[in-house]
Amino acid sequence: MKILTVVGARPEFIQIAPVDREIRARHQQILVHTGQHYDAEMSQVFFQELNIHAPEINLEVGSGSHAVQTGTMMVKLEELMLQEKPDFVIAISDTNSTVATAMAAAKLNLPLAHIEAGLRSYDRTMPEEINRIITDHISDVLFSPTQVAVDNLKREGITTGVFNVGDVRMDTIDAVLEPARSRLPALQPMIGLAPGQPFALATIHRAGNTDREERLRGIVQVFSLVDMPVVLPVHPRLAKMMQTYNLTFSDNVRAINPIGFLDTIALLDACRFILTDSGGLQKEAYMLRKPAITIRETTEWTETVTSGWNRLCEPEPEAFQAAVAAACGPLPAEHPDFYGTYGVSRRIVDVLESILKKSPPPSA
Ligand code: UD1
Repeated sequence: MKILTVVGARPEFIQIAPVDREIRARHQQILVHTGQHYDAEMSQVFFQELNIHAPEINLEVGSGSHAVQTGTMMVKLEELMLQEKPDFVIAISDTNSTVATAMAAAKLNLPLAHIEAGLRSYDRTMPEEINRIITDHISDVLFSPTQVAVDNLKREGITTGVFNVGDVRMDTIDAVLEPARSRLPALQPMIGLAPGQPFALATIHRAGNTDREERLRGIVQVFSLVDMPVVLPVHPRLAKMMQTYNLTFSDNVRAINPIGFLDTIALLDACRFILTDSGGLQKEAYMLRKPAITIRETTEWTETVTSGWNRLCEPEPEAFQAAVAAACGPLPAEHPDFYGTYGVSRRIVDVLESILKKSPPPSA
């Protein structure tokens, strides 16, 4: 079987690592990097640390408005897909690279699989929500990470080709947790933390938070209220907007350059709680049993909130301080197995094989 898999942004590199290995062990894989994320610390470091095979092709699309970025990718992907004629195209997550892949493949009538299908924030002001809806509605095979995601698809009338295989991040975390932990002693002094010193880990990169001056000012203000160091790897978009609005973080915030996946997991594993607007990090925090405060009005990972491990919070002092106090309190007693069990990548490739052989899918 010949598979063409497209990635372009950080969360996709993290998720594709175990799937790419599984595909390469059994089939021909053409891994395509759109070039949406191109800085070494946003891209290359993930390939190195997660031992991901070098992409067969890099489309070098780079930055641009949504239409320019997505459209340029589609033109290049269409040409490539016509040339390669893969048996399956795989799109992953919810970025502009995801939706460009899905639209290019669907219009060529190539079988399309979407990994991380069925997530919804029900907030259409987020570009990611538009990307998810379009991609899910034109995919043939939908790999959902949770039952909530399967139910979301059902509400939109999508019931065929849906497989609840679990979350591929389970496999990624499984592969890196021990090597990540061993990096902590070297990492702590680099960010001025004493061994065992409590700290919060923070990431902010969503346009809804960074590109609105009042909101970003609010985030800067509430971060100053945290009574411990806040370690903040700064995404390029955040750096740019802090400069545009002439904002600076308070002294308790340790702003550092973006870090790789191993260091992220090492810091997540060692922190008291996380402050984030990232989808992936909310889930990784849950997997590592860390409380999260999500600076957004909605989340795709509602089960992390209903189980008491994650709190949605606006950047307003009173609500924020209450959320921090709760996150530093006792952990919830229950930690249900929302994201399935290890072996998600193997299940994904098993399903694709069975579809091509027209035999009953293993978990249908
Ligand atoms: C994208 C995804 C988002 C994902 C995130 C992870 C979309 C719509 N959003 O958001 O779902 O959570 O990636 O990081 O696809 N930039 C650099 N260097 C890089 C990459 C980007 O400087 O290597 C700059 C760009 O010039 C741009 C900004 O960062 O100004 C944002 O990049 P972009 O690809 O538009 O989206 P992200 O915010 O990273």
